[in-house]
Amino acid sequence: MYEQVSHSLLNDILIELKLKKGHQELQHFYTRLGANFYSIHSLFSNLYGEREDFNQHMQRLVETMLRQYVNRPAHLKQTDLSREKNHSWFLSQKWVGMALYCDGFSDDLKGVQSKLSYLQDLGANLIHIMPICDCPEDKNDGGYAVRDFRQIDSRFGTLEDLEELANSLRQRDMLLTLDVVVNHTSEEHEWAIKARQGDPIYQDYYFTFDDRQIPDIYEETMPEVFPEIAPGSFTWNEEMGKWVMTVFNYFQWDLNYKNPAVFIEMLDILLFWANRGADILRLDAVAFLWKKMGSSCQNEREAHLILQMLKDCCQVTAPGVLFIAEAIVAPNEIIKYFGEDAINAKECEIAYNATLMALLWDAVATRNATLLNIGIQNIPEKLERATWLNYVRGHDDIGWGFSDTDIIAAGYDPSRHRRFLVDYYTGNFANSRAKGFAFGVNKKTGDARISGALASLAGLETALIEQDNVAIECAIKTIVLLHSVILSFGGIPLLYYGDAIGTLNDDSYLSDTNKSNDNRWIHRPKMKWDRAELRKVQGSIEHKLFTALKKIIAIRKEVSAFADRNNRELINVDNPHLFVFSRFNQTGSQSRVLVIGNFDAQPQLLNLSQLKPMGFFQYESAKDLCTGEIVALSEETLTVPALSFYWLET
Ligand code: GLC
Ligand code: GLC
Repeated sequence: MYEQVSHSLLNDILIELKLKKGHQELQHFYTRLGANFYSIHSLFSNLYGEREDFNQHMQRLVETMLRQYVNRPAHLKQTDLSREKNHSWFLSQKWVGMALYCDGFSDDLKGVQSKLSYLQDLGANLIHIMPICDCPEDKNDGGYAVRDFRQIDSRFGTLEDLEELANSLRQRDMLLTLDVVVNHTSEEHEWAIKARQGDPIYQDYYFTFDDRQIPDIYEETMPEVFPEIAPGSFTWNEEMGKWVMTVFNYFQWDLNYKNPAVFIEMLDILLFWANRGADILRLDAVAFLWKKMGSSCQNEREAHLILQMLKDCCQVTAPGVLFIAEAIVAPNEIIKYFGEDAINAKECEIAYNATLMALLWDAVATRNATLLNIGIQNIPEKLERATWLNYVRGHDDIGWGFSDTDIIAAGYDPSRHRRFLVDYYTGNFANSRAKGFAFGVNKKTGDARISGALASLAGLETALIEQDNVAIECAIKTIVLLHSVILSFGGIPLLYYGDAIGTLNDDSYLSDTNKSNDNRWIHRPKMKWDRAELRKVQGSIEHKLFTALKKIIAIRKEVSAFADRNNRELINVDNPHLFVFSRFNQTGSQSRVLVIGNFDAQPQLLNLSQLKPMGFFQYESAKDLCTGEIVALSEETLTVPALSFYWLET
């Protein structure tokens, strides 16, 4: 949009920057800057307009976008141009992701590269490598306490190794996702060191206070993220003689986005990684970006404005790069990280579907899909050019983040139901084989989350100890059933390394004093490659799981109705154990797939007469895309086997 005030400022800035590059070379930069500048300027003045040095910051912002554009490698600029032409490319069903720790999956970046064939064997073609930036060896929260945002941790390799990996991925038509920890730095980051030494410029990069007065006011309304291992949200720093805001661990200092210099620094870092070949950037803990006294300091409006600015600026320099929002918050809040009131995602194109994840675990524990159905029904419709990251397990704990209203509608009491879930997953409930651990137990609120490997939560570990073959089969079925949902739901499925071979809890972290107080490490194992080899041995658990997942991944990629075009219809059926939805092609109803999942350990009946008026089951039989089997529909009911699913072409 053309608007006089911002445009004349932009002209002044461009004159000031004395551009040396020829017009031809910067052509795309200019058109994108022209398109987004009004928006960038409005947002920037909304947040920082009162400051006397506003214009200087605005100039530094443009200079940053320009410098990184000039630095952007030619092949990435080419990718930007082709993605502009096909701007919904990431909604395709052909993408299947896997999240992994560089050192957990292999030893280092070179090692990851040498293991790409394993991912290709499974069918994963998007990798999310957990944070690889330089961190202190001891206090690093699994890489989420960054000491240097532009260096790769020497344990993982070098920038050249990453570049080689990015090249190799590109040749294999695979996507690279990198983490950018935008909310905080390590206490050992150079900015924090300068702040500790008393430099007021860098103290203003963080939230620092001489006494407890303001921290006390903040803490009246701020929930604790790690109540057991890092209670409170502020830490006293002796060297600085001040309190500093530390929402997560005491060694993770929250960045102060009220300071425009922080915004510009972090944008520069995002663009730095975009220029190293990341296709997607995962923005960590985005819900926490803006702090306001008297609020929970999560999901604040200004946090959204910051993300909109990051997106607008990234589009100028590296428009082909997508953002993932890691905002593990209430369902009606998560959706806002796509950007509201816009057709295109205006913040992050992709967001973790934490709601679906938690609801799936609810369905497993209750063997009932009632809350799952209600919860999914109540997720607001998302934007067109935006998609979910659907996952069952990841590197973090499972929080019971669905809404109380939905729990009540499902017929449960919210706090009792959440307590049941914790009991169930810690194995403290009759007939529960789950082997998880309570995490983040908050004595004040009674809240608790769950740690544990997928296979152990699904009962495989206990079943193996009990040598109970029936229970082993149940666990395998549960694992495949959960994946069948994330593969068909709509969005990018994100598997977690180790899950395709049924990796169990790994308690080796207990002997590491830097990790032993954080039981999320129980599900951050070292990949067991000897076990992975067993995927080739008929009859092994690894083989059963791997081949089942590999098969449905391959099928997903062939079914165009599984692309995410807001083409899902949830179907309420009268059997509470079943989760049923249809996926359809917007262009015609021929290619419609009916997904039916049975969360019960007994076979369940689906009443066909309910679905016939909707145009399903018009013939005597239907084909199950997963098995190729023709399912007879001559009766009025369809039997869905225990802990199983159908992808019916109907
Ligand atoms: C994110 C990460 C989590 C980490 C936290 C603090 O939520 O996923 O592992 O502890 O941020 O950085
Ligand atoms: C909380 C935060 C989330 C973080 C997690 C780490 O759920 O909301 O961002 O990943 O804690 O355990």
